[in-house]
Amino acid sequence: MTDSEAALAAVAAKVGAFYEAHPYPPAVDDLDGYARKWDEGRRRADFHLLWPDQPYRDDFSVLAAGCGTSQAAKIALRWPRARVTGIDVSASSLAASEALKRRYQLDNLQLHALPLERAGELGQSFDHVVCTGVLHHLPDPDAGLRALAAVLEAAGALQLMVYAPYGRAGIYLIQDYCRRLGLEPTAADVLDLIVSLKALPPDHPLVPMLRKSPDLLTREGLADALLNPQDRAYSVPQLQGALAAADLAFGRWQRQAPYLPQCGAPASTPHAPRLARLPAHEQYAAMELFRGTMARHTVVAWRGDRPAAVDFGGQAWREYVPVRIPDAIAVRDNLPPGAVAVLINRTHTYTDLYLPIDADQERLLAAVDGRRTIAEIAGGSGQADAARDFFEQLWNYDQVVFDTSGG
Ligand SMILES: C[S@@+](CC[C@H](N)C(=O)[O-])C[C@H]1O[C@@H](n2cnc3c(N)ncnc32)[C@H](O)[C@@H]1O
Repeated sequence: MTDSEAALAAVAAKVGAFYEAHPYPPAVDDLDGYARKWDEGRRRADFHLLWPDQPYRDDFSVLAAGCGTSQAAKIALRWPRARVTGIDVSASSLAASEALKRRYQLDNLQLHALPLERAGELGQSFDHVVCTGVLHHLPDPDAGLRALAAVLEAAGALQLMVYAPYGRAGIYLIQDYCRRLGLEPTAADVLDLIVSLKALPPDHPLVPMLRKSPDLLTREGLADALLNPQDRAYSVPQLQGALAAADLAFGRWQRQAPYLPQCGAPASTPHAPRLARLPAHEQYAAMELFRGTMARHTVVAWRGDRPAAVDFGGQAWREYVPVRIPDAIAVRDNLPPGAVAVLINRTHTYTDLYLPIDADQERLLAAVDGRRTIAEIAGGSGQADAARDFFEQLWNYDQVVFDTSGG
């Protein structure tokens, strides 16, 4: 083993030991409420977010890479006909997942103690690979991503969540502070840290994060965020570079409106025309800098150079079937002039991301049933251009996904 291989192995061992002692997220034993949320509508929206160009089905294979305490079990529960595999290096996390498997009789779930860098040893490829909150803890994330890309089916979809740097600036300050003090994730050090953080100056960059994510002040959340042995973050260009290095193509952001300059406040700044002229990946990078507080990026990636499945440039949009995203809702209070409702997505954290709609648009939206195409919804030719523009806006604002399969 070379020195650098030994250094990587030492980091991996530290990370493994950390999650063995501090499984994260904390184990849960009751997924009843979670299961109730996953009705047919939510499943369809989830499917077409990953695969706009494929007809809906529910019998695909999934790998949850670094599945932690409950992620693989949740996937198996919400997709009972899918074949789900969970891998992790933490035996305590896998034990929590096994307990859920037993309790909910998840015969469609297999769990293995295996580092994701060795996913190829499963001897299988997957339609869907999920890896959230893991890659940034690996000693060599590029090698991890290549291993995941290698087990992704040709038409598969990878869902990846990694930390983002600017929104976590406060975390990185306090991580460095903790390192300098030699703090360890022991019960005593964690308790002292919780008390000490309450004395941070109110304008310290960590303070808004503590307010917005109360989980950070729990013992488990705090250890995971501030005392983790290995943690790196990806700016938008760094993430695009990592995907390209693993021969993966950017598909979409899980929630795209925050990354689009035509959505929300940036659209009415004097920079809007300049932003509009940038290529898409530069727009995303600019929005990360403009918004300033993105703490993570969740991206859907595909293998190779698959063409964009959703494109309003030609005429194909007429045959797209819009499917509503369940977290998208209409609000009818304090409406701007001329609006009959304002559409928001409850999972957005930026309050400028709302879409006011008029009465005609409300009628178009009400006709979305997950079966009719945009052309069928728009009806007579007079409305076609307005319908195209409206459905493109709904797409940008994370109100709908599309089934573009025509099947
Ligand atoms: C923050 S938790 C995220 C768990 C899960 N993905 C979720 O979103 O709930 C990170 C997980 O990655 C696991 N992990 C760390 N290094 C790993 C590796 N090389 N291979 C597989 N899992 C790993 C840890 O044991 C831990 O369970």
